[in-house]
Amino acid sequence: MTCAEPIIAPASADLAAQLRALLSPASVLRCNEPLAKRTTLRVGGPAELYVEPADEAELAIVLRFCCDHDTPFFMLGRGSNLLIRDGGIRGIVIHLGAPNFTRIAFEAGQLRCGAGAKLRDIALAAKRHSLGGLEFLEGIPGNLGGALRMNAGAMNGWTFDVVATLRYMDYAGVAHELSVNEVQTTYRSCPLLKSAVALGAVITGRSASPEQVEARLKECQQKRWTSQPKEPSAGCIFKNTKVSPAGKLIDELGLKGTRVGDAVVSDVHGNFIINAGSATARDVQTLIEIIRTRARDQRGIELETEVEIIGED
Ligand code: EPU
Repeated sequence: MTCAEPIIAPASADLAAQLRALLSPASVLRCNEPLAKRTTLRVGGPAELYVEPADEAELAIVLRFCCDHDTPFFMLGRGSNLLIRDGGIRGIVIHLGAPNFTRIAFEAGQLRCGAGAKLRDIALAAKRHSLGGLEFLEGIPGNLGGALRMNAGAMNGWTFDVVATLRYMDYAGVAHELSVNEVQTTYRSCPLLKSAVALGAVITGRSASPEQVEARLKECQQKRWTSQPKEPSAGCIFKNTKVSPAGKLIDELGLKGTRVGDAVVSDVHGNFIINAGSATARDVQTLIEIIRTRARDQRGIELETEVEIIGED
């Protein structure tokens, strides 16, 4: 295969050809793949190589290839908590978008879900099967892999609150399954998945009527629609602090509406930066620094980003 205009290294085409030879035609492999459209903020440069493995066996091949060739890789989920810098991502970007990873199956009163399943689809499957307690997932614009990795939460619900077992792959390509009580989690983090790839989880709920689930889904949607912006964003930019929710702090500092290029602090919620049209990653990074500096100088608070910032400047 050939690569048009390799973005970073001329070695990309060679790397791509070697990896292609190891994978079945069912796996997708592309060079110089634009990533902005694969993020909810819609900014950032391309991936040097982009791979969608067809199944776990092919994912294991990709991970071993990265290890053998000392090639960095990045797992891209729904791209909702992510700021990719304008220079794009060096190495291999792996996305679990193949049907083998997006499946949601109802088994013994629980949902066995692949890491690529959208959280919204899991919430809707739960409604179909009269499972309550999963409604909060509806409003998180992510897929399960990302939500597990960062123990995503909304509306007082946390991803790991509803996980029964976690399936993951280590970087040597070996799959493992753990019961949830063997997995350590904290606010916005599952440390195990900082050095392993989430493959999926068995999600558990409580028995509820479809009407009860529907009412709770509506409540979550309503709260989100009225308290969060509709424009493209990466979700909350900063983690909440012990002293104050980050959005409240940014609001109190009078920073709503602050603009750098087309990156703007949302008027609806202070902890969201929206892309008003053609923002660049640089615009967003500059705005983040303005906010952090003001919080430090005026309130002595060190804001930590919740969004993952990756790639080349
Ligand atoms: N607030 C303000 N001004 C603002 C924004 C918020 O005064 O501009 C106040 C609110 O009135 C409220 C408090 O700050 O009293 C907290 O706000 P909110 O209820 O919106 O929750 P949050 O702590 O800002 C968290 C999660 C969100 C999640 C919501 C809803 C974090 C960093 N954020 O936001 O998650 O959707 O709760 O449950 O934990 C995300 O992680 O990307 C995200 C959006």
